[in-house]
Amino acid sequence: MSNGDDLKRQVADAALGLVEPGMKLGLGTGSTAAAFIAALGARVRQGLDVECVATSSATEAQAKAAGIPIATLNSAGELDLTVDGADEIDASLSLIKGGGGALLREKIVAMASQRFVVIADESKLVDGLGAFPLPIEVEPFGAQSTLRMIGMVGREAGCDGEVKLREGADGPFRTDGGHYIADCAFGAIPDAALLGDMLTMIPGVIEHGLFIDMADAALIAGAEGVRVLEP
Ligand code: A5P
Repeated sequence: MSNGDDLKRQVADAALGLVEPGMKLGLGTGSTAAAFIAALGARVRQGLDVECVATSSATEAQAKAAGIPIATLNSAGELDLTVDGADEIDASLSLIKGGGGALLREKIVAMASQRFVVIADESKLVDGLGAFPLPIEVEPFGAQSTLRMIGMVGREAGCDGEVKLREGADGPFRTDGGHYIADCAFGAIPDAALLGDMLTMIPGVIEHGLFIDMADAALIAGAEGVRVLEP
């Protein structure tokens, strides 16, 4: 097992400590969330009673294979806790998410949760957001026009960098909802809240990967063990 895998397992086990019988849980997407789902599945097979909502088809498939009961968000209603990874985490627990292309469902599920906890290794901690290209989910109709507007809005918000469609195996990458992803190499984002507000004004933008004032805590795994950060 690589050191990175070991850190993911450690932080997944720490997040499992937040789970109580009878909880309704949101399950994130990505390799760190997958470590949590694997750990949760082992507990469920020992008799833990939980009901879960998946943030992607990949997560749903993993969870079902692990024996975890999966519900729709509509039937589950408000969730007690969502556990998810992130691509970048700053000191106020503002996040960039969407590297795995699941940001829209991740944001919907996180917003439907009483508690949203991010799990990551310490490589995801940053002084300021933006080194990781910001993923933005866009409507395929008129996508090139939307990408130009994203570039313009980015420059107005003090961010300048290439905005390009994410490629899949056979043409543009498609999200579970059938949308495209624009990856925006903005570099340092001076005001993430402002940029997020401006991006949501663009009609072709479905949702962006800035998660501001959403995380209640972050569990961060490093050489010294797992530490808890709060905003
Ligand atoms: C999925 O869309 C993303 O938001 C993931 O949470 C993010 O990419 C983190 O993934 P890893 O845990 O694989 O780094």
